[in-house]
Amino acid sequence: MMLLYEGKAKCVYKTEDPEVLRLEYKDEVTAGNGEKQDFMSGKGRLNNLISSDIFKYLKKNGVDSHFIERISDTEQKVMPVRIIPLEVVVRNFAAGSIVRRLGFTNGSSFTPPLVEFYYKEDALHDPILTEDHILKLDIATEAEIETLRTQALKVNKAMNEMMDQMGLKLVDFKIEYGKDKAGNFVLADEISPDTCRIWDKKTGENFDKDVYRNGTGSLIDKYTEFYEKMGAVK
Ligand code: TMP
Repeated sequence: MMLLYEGKAKCVYKTEDPEVLRLEYKDEVTAGNGEKQDFMSGKGRLNNLISSDIFKYLKKNGVDSHFIERISDTEQKVMPVRIIPLEVVVRNFAAGSIVRRLGFTNGSSFTPPLVEFYYKEDALHDPILTEDHILKLDIATEAEIETLRTQALKVNKAMNEMMDQMGLKLVDFKIEYGKDKAGNFVLADEISPDTCRIWDKKTGENFDKDVYRNGTGSLIDKYTEFYEKMGAVK
């Protein structure tokens, strides 16, 4: 079936059904806007299994997404949406770019959680956006920005409850939204340890892509362990 789009970690294909796309997760890992890139056998499968189960968990907890069903180890069916060029980041604790950029102490908590928007534009290195920038760029209206913020915080609440059951702490995460034919926002893309920061509640051990970014261990081992921990989630 026709390849619609190839990203750094996934391919998107058309299917016979115009209401269904097929996402295929690749055995690729990248960091720093593609500056660091490696083939990693088994990674596509883990991301697909984890992302599918997270979307299922969210659905069970009242958060809809583009996810329809997992159809193989590395593939899932999703609803077609028009992706909005925004990365919505929710932070419960300070880590990563906000520590480097603004000097927050690593691990200090944000209550209420912090919501940020980044411009999904590789050529510009995904810069952070203020709400006024979003309006000037005609990406979303004021009301839509508020809707995105509310929806992202709902995802955060459900994800926090899930991680809590796994003995983990959700430090931060990135999500993306699309619009369906009716113009409604739909949670899209993937949610996995590639797009979250996840620390062990007791030891602070990392279960996310920082393991690869910082070269501190085996990503496959960590994602496998994370997937096993998901077995405890009700
Ligand atoms: P940051 O600390 O680099 O701004 O990242 C915040 C969160 O967003 C972290 O969980 C990683 C995730 N993220 C992505 O999934 N994709 C990206 O392109 C970036 C910059 C961050």
